[in-house]
Amino acid sequence: MNAADDKRVVIFDTTLRDGEQAPGCSMTLDEKLRVAAALAELKVDIIEAGFPAASPGDFESVQTIARTIEGPTICGLARCNTEDIKLVWDAVRDAQQPRIHVFVATSQIHREHKLQMAKEEIIKVAVESVTLARSLCEDVEFSPEDAARTEPEYLAEVVQAAIEAGATTVNIPDTVGYTVPGEFFELFRYLKANVAGIDNIRLSAHCHDDLGLAVANSLAAVQAGARQIECTINGIGERAGNCSLEEVVMALRTRQEYFGLETGIRTQRLYPTSRIVANVTGMHAPRNKAIVGENAFSHEAGIHQHGMLRHHTTYEIMRPEDVGLSRSNLVLGKHSGRHAFRERVEQLGFEMDDVELNRCFKEFKELADRKKELYDQDIEAIIMNVDVGKAGPWAIEELHITAGTGSIAAAALRISHTDGRELRQAAAGDGPVAAVFRALEQATGVELVLKNFEVHGVTVGDDAQGEVTVTVEYNQQSYRGHAVSTDIVESAAFAYLEVINRVIRRREGTGQVAAENVALGNP
Ligand code: KIV
Ligand code: ZN
Repeated sequence: MNAADDKRVVIFDTTLRDGEQAPGCSMTLDEKLRVAAALAELKVDIIEAGFPAASPGDFESVQTIARTIEGPTICGLARCNTEDIKLVWDAVRDAQQPRIHVFVATSQIHREHKLQMAKEEIIKVAVESVTLARSLCEDVEFSPEDAARTEPEYLAEVVQAAIEAGATTVNIPDTVGYTVPGEFFELFRYLKANVAGIDNIRLSAHCHDDLGLAVANSLAAVQAGARQIECTINGIGERAGNCSLEEVVMALRTRQEYFGLETGIRTQRLYPTSRIVANVTGMHAPRNKAIVGENAFSHEAGIHQHGMLRHHTTYEIMRPEDVGLSRSNLVLGKHSGRHAFRERVEQLGFEMDDVELNRCFKEFKELADRKKELYDQDIEAIIMNVDVGKAGPWAIEELHITAGTGSIAAAALRISHTDGRELRQAAAGDGPVAAVFRALEQATGVELVLKNFEVHGVTVGDDAQGEVTVTVEYNQQSYRGHAVSTDIVESAAFAYLEVINRVIRRREGTGQVAAENVALGNP
């Protein structure tokens, strides 16, 4: 199954597990489903959907993904204990192809300071856990956490014991992003030479990017015989992140003649998937990020432009179309019709039915009234935000702002409720955004603690849209709201109201709202 002469590298995406663990990257169930659907379209082989023992919400999202997403294997993570493993199995058992992933730390530092367990004890729990997982599921992955800092002889012992207990994939994590390519290559070579039965399982690499080497280390691992790479979209993950899926996949593809390997990834979906993850997490890829950054395919220097005009291969090693970016960034405007809009949407890699297209086209026309020229990024923003903030119960009907240097900012708004009520509220603040937030809180009776506020320009120009992401806390829970508009105060208001609505819907779901409203004297 896993001889190194197998030319296929399996892509294991952990955006929804390791990626989601990154500060500010937590996702709601709906957001996770949206990302999981995009990953299935991208044709990743395995989706690590979460860590079911972490919380009931995590369990629910892994189970929902397992029950709804078709195509990839759906995997859940477990520590080496019976409860975690059974929870993962309950969560993934309905998937077309389920996988249980168990892990335990093996390095001396983790053994002594975190686990306070002896080497033999760790081997014992690893064997018991893999055995239990295999009794439930055919497909079991084992990870010795912090493997890259584990003594190679001991690591070989652990890996051999896990294989004998039935692990079908063994993953070697560089948990703290410490290793370098030559060393990681040697470690894989060492394991291949010293672990009996290793050629009968799939070897995997899981690299973190603390030294900016996660992609290079993953490539070194495949050169030494690994045939699974664990990675995340946009490289999101703990601290400096994980190996970036788009970079490692395009390295294997662009340098196919060097590596002689292939993946099953539909690379034209890389850019749209990157944008979906950025949109959902509010974590935007830097402009100069390889493959999916805004500048990744733009040429400013005259000499480069001249070369490009002669032949694109002079300065381009990949074609933008191959990663789902259009070369033209064609401009649409208010006279563009439904047909041109549909064509552009399809060229951008989005698939939608007539109903969705009509909804987006309506937004497009409204935006075209406010903005002279619409670029690809504007169209993407419409597609990704068309339903955001529409779920109610509250909607903004009118918003007026007064602000200026040396004066106190004020916001006056009129909001309507799905049950027919209308409220007017005015508030002052240090600035227009603070005033709007206060007015929304006072009108709805939902008080939030603002943790982060980010504005990102969707395109350039003085009529560019501003994408606002707010991260807030309510009842010790973190929420993120997101909106796009040509007016950033309006974006901020929509993003804040999106969170308020989510809090209200959640409270209504728990029956908490009625009691709180009485206490607050709210409608
Ligand atoms: O970084 C790590 O070690 C992990 C393991 C759980 C695979 O994420
Ligand atoms: Zn990790």
